Amino acid sequence: MTISTIAVVGSGYMGGGIAQVLALAGCSVVLSDQSAEIASANRERIIAEAGAFAEQKLFVADAAETIARNVRAAASVEEAVEGVEFVEEAVPEIPAVKAEMLGRISAANPTAIIGSNTSTISIGELATHVQNPERFLGVHFSNPAPFIPGVELIPHDSTRSSAVDAVATLLRSAGKSPATVTDATGFVVNRLQYALFHEATQLMEEGVATADDIDLIVRTTFGMRLPFFGPFAIADMAGLDVYEFCYRSLQTRFTERFATPDALRELVEQGKLGTKTGAGFRDIDPARIAELIAYRNEAYVRVQQLIDELGPHPFDERT
Ligand code: NAI
Repeated sequence: MTISTIAVVGSGYMGGGIAQVLALAGCSVVLSDQSAEIASANRERIIAEAGAFAEQKLFVADAAETIARNVRAAASVEEAVEGVEFVEEAVPEIPAVKAEMLGRISAANPTAIIGSNTSTISIGELATHVQNPERFLGVHFSNPAPFIPGVELIPHDSTRSSAVDAVATLLRSAGKSPATVTDATGFVVNRLQYALFHEATQLMEEGVATADDIDLIVRTTFGMRLPFFGPFAIADMAGLDVYEFCYRSLQTRFTERFATPDALRELVEQGKLGTKTGAGFRDIDPARIAELIAYRNEAYVRVQQLIDELGPHPFDERT
């Protein structure tokens, strides 16, 4: 199934950005909100914003015209969802509001695939408010939706795979990078982001470094790697035996918080130490290691050039 007609319910910050992305991909998008007036005002807002983005060359030159042509505002949620193939719900993160809205959407359109942009609420719990819930899944964009490519797709126990596939195809056609994750608390994005934030806060509270210096250290050390490599590729390149040793050091103070993960210990026991042995968490062809290192080096130099070109962000201008 190819999706080309969409309703976005909740036309605020995230809903507006999602509508821009999908309209720019050529889809026909209907916006709805608490009233016809709010939906209409938000349509005007995202068109004006698209014009400003185009002037900054962040969107294509005719983005505002494309969005004006492809997005319309509906008088009600029921009118918006009528006859569309996909509905993305982006109302506030209040369970009762989401529950009511998903009930109304699913009653008004019994066949459309329905996605929720929830950041934190269990998809299985939200599914209990959806009629025909096998067409329902989490479709979690990151902020700012127009510019961050990754989108988490979160099926619940009875979501049909064809619904996940159809949304993934839609997102890829809009230039996004969907990844499917299980319906577990925090999903992947927020669980990882909050793990980092949690440790950063502890370091600050213990007086190990200031907030300014922790931010500086993160963005000038391992933060440089993250646009290119995730934690498993990074661990494989560092060497899993090195990681195991670092865990032992961390355990001298944080016995439980930094217990060595079983998956790491098992790989080390098997002699799979990452890139240097040709096997680790990720499959790496040993013949391509030189190519990997060359890519890595160029990536870091070029990202530093971009940082130099853009200059410091406003937080850092003061320091
Ligand atoms: P927002 O407050 O900017 O937008 C919510 C919109 O829903 C508003 O336009 C509001 O008028 C409308 N609304 C409220 N009640 C409604 C109702 N009963 N019927 C129809 N429309 C209604 O909120 P935001 O930030 O766009 O968040 C929306 C969802 O996206 C939340 O679930 C949030 O957790 C999620 N999200 C937010 C991110 C962020 O950084 N802001 C990032 C990723 C997900």
